[in-house]
Amino acid sequence: MRNNLALLFVLIAMNVNAQKSDLILPQPDTTGGVPIMKALHERSSAREFSETDLSMQDLSDLCWAAWGINRVESGKRTAPSSRNFQEMDLYVVLKTGVFVYNAQKNLLEIVKEGDLRDLCGTQEFVEKAPVNFLYIADLRKRNLEKPEDITDTQLLSSWANAGFMSQNVYLVCASKDFSTVIRAMIDRDKLQNELGLNPMQRIILGQTIGKSQK
Ligand SMILES: Cc1cc2nc3c(=O)[nH]c(=O)nc-3n(C[C@H](O)[C@H](O)[C@H](O)COP(=O)(O)O)c2cc1C
Repeated sequence: MRNNLALLFVLIAMNVNAQKSDLILPQPDTTGGVPIMKALHERSSAREFSETDLSMQDLSDLCWAAWGINRVESGKRTAPSSRNFQEMDLYVVLKTGVFVYNAQKNLLEIVKEGDLRDLCGTQEFVEKAPVNFLYIADLRKRNLEKPEDITDTQLLSSWANAGFMSQNVYLVCASKDFSTVIRAMIDRDKLQNELGLNPMQRIILGQTIGKSQK
């Protein structure tokens, strides 16, 4: 009982800065899932999705797989990043709004309210599926100041980062029997505008996720 109360106080303290529209995620389940070789055996892209919302637990597991902290001492993540710049942000687009994943607080912080799923990609299924992840690089985290400073090699690193993050998500989806597909087909200028992103932020890839349609 006392342990439970202490845990509750820690959780409240961690989320004390949460805004009204932020979503507090449950702790990710870091021990479950199918064996890694089975997940690799099942990994595939699918473009048919049930419109049913995912549970908060599933959302938490998926966010953690993509970009969670798996070594608290160093703050390092489930996906590697070039020179540990950790320039990637994981944006989570739901029916209710667009959020950015705060891995330290296990929180989805509101970026914009409302349903913006149709802006996440140019394919029809994108606006119907319950979840779209956007892998967005913030090059300011590489200590760069102006768009002219960004080199092709730095951008390639962000593309590689998004590849690692999305493969983690693919494997969790394989384990949970969810559908997913990584996507480059995005109207980036329009989305950049709607999200009010800084010119130093670059939309790399999107990934649609949902329960399989059976
Ligand atoms: C960088 C990249 C961009 C992709 N972009 C799209 C896309 O915009 N739309 C789509 O439906 N699939 C996209 N895909 C998924 C590929 O079509 C898919 O991985 C490929 O057909 C192989 O199928 P598999 O993933 O089931 O092995 C992309 C894959 C990668 C690696």
